[in-house]
Amino acid sequence: MTNNVALEKAVKLLGNAQRVLVFTGAGVSAESGISTFRDSLTGLWEKFDPSQLATATAFRNDPALVWAWYEWRRAQVAMTRPNAAHIAIAALKQHVPELTVVTQNVDDLHERAGSKEVIHLHGNLNAPRCFACARPYPLDVSSLNKMNPDYLAPPRCHHCGGKIRPGVVWFGESLPDSEIRAAFKAAENSDLLLSVGTSGVVYPAARIPEIARECRVDIVHINTEPADIATGTILIGRAGEWLPRLLSETFGNRAALN
Ligand code: OAD
Repeated sequence: MTNNVALEKAVKLLGNAQRVLVFTGAGVSAESGISTFRDSLTGLWEKFDPSQLATATAFRNDPALVWAWYEWRRAQVAMTRPNAAHIAIAALKQHVPELTVVTQNVDDLHERAGSKEVIHLHGNLNAPRCFACARPYPLDVSSLNKMNPDYLAPPRCHHCGGKIRPGVVWFGESLPDSEIRAAFKAAENSDLLLSVGTSGVVYPAARIPEIARECRVDIVHINTEPADIATGTILIGRAGEWLPRLLSETFGNRAALN
């Protein structure tokens, strides 16, 4: 299917959809300057070993290394802005009767673009909590360490003195129960899944397009790579270009502006 034929089909599907689920991955934030995970040149997991940084064992063994890495990522995100894809996704709310936004991203760019009640399957960089008692720890942007050191001892919990851990889901940990349930339910009940900028290889999040397919929900993928995805309509290219175009062709010229 050429991109033009795929766009025509996607416009029809979006124009008729009553319940839309937008499911995003690192690709939606790439044009804001945030590295994806599996890109062969800039991917975070190409440069860093996830087992050294993204597991509870890694944090136990070397909390200052792990905390410093997440503070570096938080600083990277704080310097970025939502791009045209985040803005178009937020604007969708005005055009479809029911919209659910589910992201695997730990940044806050959907929210900063205006999306409300975003379901974060893998947690949130700005919501750290105590490793011992799990109480949330208030951390604001001004506390970001400008030096981005390789080593930075995590702060201590105000309640129990435990070490503060990043508010993200690490490998080997369960996803937050209510978030994954809400996401799976939306995948079953939507009539269109827009899957944007995800390689779809990390489970259980990768179940979302599978569930949609099992429930005969229409699927539109937007990805720079012709992803290895069996079914659905695929728009190959950048999310920041496709999403505004898809919205304006479906709902009119200014539709992608929030
Ligand atoms: P990946 O890095 O695996 O995939 C990013 C996808 O975005 C790839 O398929 C790219 O082709 C595509 N892409 C890149 N730039 C794009 C653009 N401008 N427009 C559209 N598509 C673009 O990231 P995720 O699928 O999000 O988990 O990875 C899932 C999970 O793996 C992450 O949440 C993280 C990681 O390990 C945890 O940390 C638990």
